[in-house]
This record gives sequence, C-alpha cells and structure tokens, in this order.
Amino acid sequence: MSNSSSDNIRAREAWDMNARFWDERMADGNDFFISLIWPSVEKLLRPQPGENLLDIACGNGVTSRRLALAGGAVVAIDFSEEMIRAARARPGDGQIDYRVIDATDADALRALGPRTFDGALCNMALMDMSDIRPLMNGVASLLRPGGRFVFSTLHPCFNNPSNVQMGELEDREGVLVTTYSVKVSRYLTPYTQVGLAMHGQPVPHPYFHRPLGMLLQDMFDAGFALDALEERAFSPENSGGSTPFSWGGQFSEIPPVLVGRLSPRAIA
Ligand SMILES: C[S@@+](CC[C@H](N)C(=O)[O-])C[C@H]1O[C@@H](n2cnc3c(N)ncnc32)[C@H](O)[C@@H]1O
Repeated sequence: MSNSSSDNIRAREAWDMNARFWDERMADGNDFFISLIWPSVEKLLRPQPGENLLDIACGNGVTSRRLALAGGAVVAIDFSEEMIRAARARPGDGQIDYRVIDATDADALRALGPRTFDGALCNMALMDMSDIRPLMNGVASLLRPGGRFVFSTLHPCFNNPSNVQMGELEDREGVLVTTYSVKVSRYLTPYTQVGLAMHGQPVPHPYFHRPLGMLLQDMFDAGFALDALEERAFSPENSGGSTPFSWGGQFSEIPPVLVGRLSPRAIA
C-alpha cells in the first residue's frame, strides 16, 4: 500500500525541491561520499559483472552509475520525480533502469519481481524514510538466495539531527588546544525533525531518527542477519568541509556514518 502519511508527502516534496541543488553539489560524488561512504559500500557489496542490482533511493544516480560501471544491470528507484529526472540527465556507462518508486510502498516494491536481485543497496537514505519496514520486507522478497543488502546511513548515535557539534579552545599550560566533540541529548526515543543534508539546500527535509536497536530490529524482523558493520570516520589528515564544524579529520574519532551488510537468515 502506498504510504500517503503527511510525513512521507512532506519528505517527497522537500526532496523534489532540493533535487536540482543536490544534483549540482553531489554530481559524481562529494568528499563525504568518496572518502567516507563509497569505499565501505563497495567493499561490503562487491558488485560483480552480470549481476542484477537494485539501488534504492538512488538520488541523482551517483551509486547507480558506479554499480553499472562494475558491470551490473541496475534498477534504480527514488520517490522523487525530480531526482529521477536529474539521474537520467547524467548518463553513465552500463545499464541503468531508473524508476519513480516509493520505498515505503510495499506493493510497488514487490512488483519489481520476487527473487530478482543478486544485491541491493540503500545509500544514505534510511534516515530520510518515514517507515523502513516495507522496504526491509520488500527487499527480503526481492533478493535471490545468497543475495545481500548493503545500507549506509547517518550514524544514529553521533550524527542524528539533534546532535550538536562542539569545539573547545583550551590553554593547556601555555599550549592552545582545540578539541572537537559531539553532544548527544536525544537518542533513545524516535523522533522526526527537519534538517539539512547539505549547507545551502533550498529547503530543510525531514529526518526520521531511530536509535540503533530499533533500526536493526526492523531488519531482523524482516528475516535479515547482519554480517558486517563499519563505523566510518574521516582520517585525521582530512581537511574537512566549509566550516570548522563540517565533518572532517578534526572528528576522526567520531563516526558520522554507519555501513552495514544484511543477508537473508537461513530458516531452521
Ligand atoms: C540523502 S539522499 C541520498 C541519495 C543517493 N542514494 C546518494 O547516495 O547520493 C536521500 C534520497 O532518498 C530519497 N528518498 C527518501 N525517502 C524515500 C522513499 N520513501 N522512497 C524512495 N526514495 C526516497 C530522496 O528522494 C533522496 O534522493
């Protein structure tokens, strides 16, 4: 059933309005994507030539193009028509079938065909979805036996929408020391709050915070086992982004991103 909750509609409208800006800024990958996310996604997913791959919430197709370049036949879906338009306007090498599909719509997902895909990816989008249970159940039915589902998401402990990034300057017996940290004041109870994925985006979009236990439980309830988990932080050498509080090497001990791999649990 299609999810017409006001949260979901608000999310789709925001992503439609942000699509052009997102496409210009993301293009074929920003530093966050290239340094932090893709190396881990590629390692865990290991896309192989000739595979059928599903890219969920594909945005402007930055991951779809890479999966196709690896030789996969890619079906790439997003609920934002504007994002899909932007993705189609960036042809890559290989085979990509872009479609407008809402990942909270279980029927639309199932219509992609049972046991069709060798692998699925949902890159940096679970925290943008009002309900992830239809997606988890849907992907479980879409994967072939032995298939895998890789996801990356904002780390719910250290990079949830109400976290505060802080810097403290200390005179340590004549030596000035700056320490960057993250203040966590809201974590265990899920909540929705608008925020910015990129500084300067036209409108804030809703984030749907779920604590780690709840995020994983939705995956386990759909019959998945977690067989890899990486917490990704920038290396200390990374110069960071446009402000001292943009994620970069000054936060090298604090991972803003979580990447995991799920596989269908064997039925006893
Ligand atoms: C942060 S962007 C990530 C895009 C892309 N995966 C990437 O890595 O650049 C989040 C994407 O999730 C999409 N999205 C959010 N909720 C969705 C849903 N329910 N169904 C499909 N796409 C959704 C948005 O339209 C947007 O393109």
